Amino acid sequence: MSRVKTLGQFIIEKQAEFPFSKGELSRLLRDIGIASKIVNREVNKAGLADILGDVGEINIQGENVKKLDVFANEQFIAALSVGGECCAIASEENEHIITIDNEMSKNAKYVVAIDPLDGSSNIDVNVSVGTIFSIYRRTSLAGLGTNEDFFQRGTEQVAAGYVIYGSSCMMVYTTGKGVNGFTLDPSIGEFCLSHPQMKTPKMAKTYSINEGNYVHFPEGVKKYIKYCQEEDDATNRPYSSRYIGSGVADIHRNLLTGGIYMYPTTAKSPKGKLRLLYECNPLAFIIEQAGGKATDGTKRIMELDISELHQRTPLFLGSSEMVDMAGEYMNTYAEVPTKND
Ligand code: AHG
Ligand code: MN
Ligand code: MN
Repeated sequence: MSRVKTLGQFIIEKQAEFPFSKGELSRLLRDIGIASKIVNREVNKAGLADILGDVGEINIQGENVKKLDVFANEQFIAALSVGGECCAIASEENEHIITIDNEMSKNAKYVVAIDPLDGSSNIDVNVSVGTIFSIYRRTSLAGLGTNEDFFQRGTEQVAAGYVIYGSSCMMVYTTGKGVNGFTLDPSIGEFCLSHPQMKTPKMAKTYSINEGNYVHFPEGVKKYIKYCQEEDDATNRPYSSRYIGSGVADIHRNLLTGGIYMYPTTAKSPKGKLRLLYECNPLAFIIEQAGGKATDGTKRIMELDISELHQRTPLFLGSSEMVDMAGEYMNTYAEVPTKND
């Protein structure tokens, strides 16, 4: 008889494979799963905000209507603060880290970096958004978490994942032993294992980039885009262009069907737009575990040094052969100056 496996059951099963595990990481993942279900509930009624009251107003229930990214941030911070497994949080929404100062949490083993709502410009137009998270073992010995706990390379991640609030809600995560995807069954309120051991194709025919920035891209990116658009039967070109503007949604699609996502440097974002700690590193961990690659154009994302919480980096992520090819173009045209007006 086939039976659904819930996220909770799956986590416990995996934990049993580590005889000395005390279950802290399992509880942390569970807490993130719970918070994401609450966020999903609010995302699903995002269009009702105008009916029930605008952001910043009191709705008819007498509650304050909050922007969804603020709401999501609060939900994840609350879930991680009461769980007792996390001593500090770094969030896109907060300039500084949030240390969790209670008896249970302050000596906890883990720190969590999070982009609570990714693709936030898409909320008001009913397009998929997401959450990205990354978990590290703290490097400080005890007490409150510190900035240095977050200044570790992506290779040190213990776990990473994303939640996509799409036509269905899915959580995809890795602890370094492959990637598994869980779809929320709203009728029972549980994430159920729907995509075991996800693998991304090595080669595909989708490229995802904000081409509006074309004039400001490095020469290597311009040339690679032209390569994608050329006609060539042998290599299945031209490729298709797909860009939602929610990184999680673009990368989730590309993970499933293959493709490359690029956010290179631009005139407006000379270091790239995306953040290393809570966007690029977790997404890189996931795509590598699914057999893909992630670089900043030349170097592996997970080996980049980090010295600022909100540090930015260019990102090239997806099917391994496509990322390699984009990297070759980046190397070949490295010396050509970018138009920067
Ligand atoms: P966030 O909503 O967390 O600020 O992130 C949005 C990111 C990423 O998800 C997306 O792919 C990219 O920014 C879109 O940027 P452009 O609008 O510049 O293309
Ligand atoms: Mn984001
Ligand atoms: Mn965000």
